[in-house]
Amino acid sequence: MTDSLTVRDNRTGNEYELPLTDGTIRAADLGGIRTGDDDPGVAVYDPGFTNTASCRSSITYIDGDKGILEYRGYPIEQLAESSTYLEVAYLLIHGELPDKSQYETWEHQITYHTFVHENVKSFMQGFRYDAHPMGMLLASVGALSTFYPESRNISDPSNRHMQMVRLIAKMPTLGAWAFRHGQGKPYVYPDNELSYAANFLAMLFKMSEQKFLADERLTKALEILFILHADHEQNCSTNAVRSVGSSQVDPYSATTAGIAALYGPLHGGANEAVLRMLRRIGSIDNVPDFITGVKNGDERLMGFGHRVYKNYDPRATIIKRACDDVFAVTGVNPLLEIAVELEKIALEDEYFVSRKLYPNVDFYSGLIYEALSFPPEMFTVLFAIPRTAGWLAQWRELVDDKDQKIARPKQIYTGERTLDFTPREQRWG
Ligand code: SDX
Repeated sequence: MTDSLTVRDNRTGNEYELPLTDGTIRAADLGGIRTGDDDPGVAVYDPGFTNTASCRSSITYIDGDKGILEYRGYPIEQLAESSTYLEVAYLLIHGELPDKSQYETWEHQITYHTFVHENVKSFMQGFRYDAHPMGMLLASVGALSTFYPESRNISDPSNRHMQMVRLIAKMPTLGAWAFRHGQGKPYVYPDNELSYAANFLAMLFKMSEQKFLADERLTKALEILFILHADHEQNCSTNAVRSVGSSQVDPYSATTAGIAALYGPLHGGANEAVLRMLRRIGSIDNVPDFITGVKNGDERLMGFGHRVYKNYDPRATIIKRACDDVFAVTGVNPLLEIAVELEKIALEDEYFVSRKLYPNVDFYSGLIYEALSFPPEMFTVLFAIPRTAGWLAQWRELVDDKDQKIARPKQIYTGERTLDFTPREQRWG
């Protein structure tokens, strides 16, 4: 038995042998199935790419049925338990865990690139007082591309490395400044004596004290959340980074595309939507009516469902556990009771069971973010910051992949053809 498909075209009676590689056929091979010379050949119609592989990747492995997530082969549970975000970022980008000297160099480089040009600060101060921080982050990262024009030279590995260091280093600064902008507070500069997560918390919450040191349990919880959000194979925002990156644009512009995609409520914006949903439900007494609304199609249970996970999202399990650690410091978030009741009912209800809808990474993360004093509009920023390492790892793999070319899908044209233009005088009467 050979690894191939035999396809019979019933329009012509012709048969075609299509090689199977890693469970896929090359769409280009379908193009050879034609009824005649003027037939462009068979193509694949797959809105949302529900069953299309866009690349070969060795970065992240997901088994949606078994609820498995691994970064470069390491189970997420072990990385969340024992690693740091910067070590995971190194692993995703370089493909292996760093040795002592590699880690110290990496950490030093990131730490000493946390500052941004003062013009970026004045650029951010130009936003309205109530600008959504994701809109500010989106625009500021795009603006960074103008400060490092050499980043367009994407074929130079050392240049690529420098720009990836800058992006990972500066995202917390930009994210914190977007938060401070909305609070009407002065922007806080990075403190290079602090760890990545501790420095981020200091830039967010420092006021008149000489040095802001967050509770270590909160810093640890944020580190775990950053690790869990670092990458997730070919999700919507990574697909955006790869698609934009395929035009050979600089990594700042490609990352901006990822931020824009993550902003949407069906993707990274879901954590903000979950909090607003829980607040709107208001009490566990209202949960049954809300569930009825979901089943009638009037509501969507935000934080539930996933294109790949048809089982519990392993990240949700870890985040739910992290809730306990955070609430031990901050006090239990009263919305937790509603979230737990929603999950309990949904996991027993045929509507959700039949659609294999389980809590995803966004369902519980918002409860922690709120307990850490973040407003809901900051939640997706807290997703974008750690996901930057994943986006850049995927972007680097794309740039090095000889199989890749500029993204330019086909379409099925459904519009009019060869109409004659009628001059305005005749059309306007
Ligand atoms: C992230 O891809 C990734 O890896 C993303 C991510 C990452 O780390 O990058 O994991 C992060 O984006 C997590 C997902 C966060 N989004 C949400 O929580 C928003 C709510 N969830 C959905 O809108 C939905 O589940 C998606 C967008 C996540 C997945 O959508 P799909 O795969 O396109 O599935 P679908 O919309 O076709 O739904 C299948 C069925 C439909 O019912 P029917 O039309 O067959 O009757 O399930 C229903 C949907 O209506 N459904 C839901 C639902 N999610 C799907 N019904 C109610 N509530 C939901 N949350």
